[in-house]
Amino acid sequence: MKLLLSRLLLGISVFVCFALPGFAEEKHPAEWEAIDARPVPQWFLDAKFGIFIHWGVYSVPAWGPLPKDGAANIYECYSEHYWNRLESGNPLFVRHHSETYGENFKYPDFAESFKCEMFKPGEWAKIFRESGAKYVVLTSKHHDGYALWPSEFSPGWNASDTGPRRDLLGEITKAVKAEGLKMGYYYSLLEWNNPLYREDIGRYVDTHMLPQMRELVEKYEPEIFWPDGEWDHLSSTLKSPEFLAWLYGESPVKDTVVVNDRWGKETRGKHGGFYTTEYDLVHSDNVKDSQIAHPWEECRGIGHSFGYNKNESLEDYSTSEELVHMLVEKVAKGGNFLLNVGPTADGRIPVIMQQRLADIGKWLKVNGDAIYGTRPWGGARENAADSVYYTAKGGDLYVIFTKIPPESFELKGIEQAPSSASILGTDIAVGCEYSDDVLKLEIPALTLENSPCDYAWAIKISGCL
Ligand code: GLC
Repeated sequence: MKLLLSRLLLGISVFVCFALPGFAEEKHPAEWEAIDARPVPQWFLDAKFGIFIHWGVYSVPAWGPLPKDGAANIYECYSEHYWNRLESGNPLFVRHHSETYGENFKYPDFAESFKCEMFKPGEWAKIFRESGAKYVVLTSKHHDGYALWPSEFSPGWNASDTGPRRDLLGEITKAVKAEGLKMGYYYSLLEWNNPLYREDIGRYVDTHMLPQMRELVEKYEPEIFWPDGEWDHLSSTLKSPEFLAWLYGESPVKDTVVVNDRWGKETRGKHGGFYTTEYDLVHSDNVKDSQIAHPWEECRGIGHSFGYNKNESLEDYSTSEELVHMLVEKVAKGGNFLLNVGPTADGRIPVIMQQRLADIGKWLKVNGDAIYGTRPWGGARENAADSVYYTAKGGDLYVIFTKIPPESFELKGIEQAPSSASILGTDIAVGCEYSDDVLKLEIPALTLENSPCDYAWAIKISGCL
């Protein structure tokens, strides 16, 4: 009877543990405490702008529906989810696939067409450097499990055994580092089509996922480790705290590596390194009214998808002006901006994406001082105004106008009279009148002739903080 009772109690506690989400989520806070206490390395906070690359077998069909075709939400537009959309019978994907390739053509059959014959890593890296980005994050392996490096844990399903027969990840890494940028890897914890993932998550984690993550880190020494696909399981099931203890304690990048918050279904906006948002939607509540103290990063594509989507046309792409404004807004709120490019299966970065990056780069050449190394300004809320953003660095304040600046502009709560003020990228001095914590700026008119850039203009106010 006693035995029966204790069995029953054990049964109940196991049931409660798994049935009540809150309980299970709070099960291992201690494991996270030490990990969360490690500060995000400063280089990441200063870098502000990075390039995301989604590239893999999904770049062959390179297709996703558009909002105007009835895609239900932004996820349904993602071309990198192609395989899973077919398997789960999404009518938009299934129709496109059977009309274009026929029902008998399976996703793995695309692998041999992922040839990357025009891929020139050196040229990619130059494009990234010229964009003003300070780091790059490449999909080492997306949800389809296909590895861009010769991973011993994905035999026959990696870029070295199929298609390009090259170590794409290794080549990009070398080229990006040679341009002086930091290199990081996105890594999907889940593999939708791996039977082990579906049937025996414990074995998947122990014999596939964790050893593969270590292989990636030991062989290529990333400066960012960017997991994703964490939503099916708790971080304890994925053994994320264990991996992080190794990453921070023993790995070759233990002192420098930066990680995000996607480590288990309970971790976003709570644990790990910087918090992540996506298309301003996913988990944006964590950073909404920003000025949050915790480091964060917004990622998005230039169009509606991360992987290249042939279905998109000009109207689906954000303009350079929109992208510069996004960058300014994120940075003013204390975030980084990770802008994605989706290269083609033959290894090119689509020209329109190159053009957007070049425009951002031109803008940053003039205004980088108002972006890199800055922090949000404490007086931003008090001085909130339409199309005006603030950043601060040392004793200097930057006022960034995303519309042509007005003739005069007043700032409250300024600590001291500035030593000077000017429009970045010019020698145009801005008049300053200071009394009782109020600074009045007199801004000379910007014209086609004297404007240093397009899209947004920054005034640097030196020594007022
Ligand atoms: C998501 C998507 C994915 C994309 C990523 C970028 O989780 O599943 O396709 O890689 O977010 O943030």
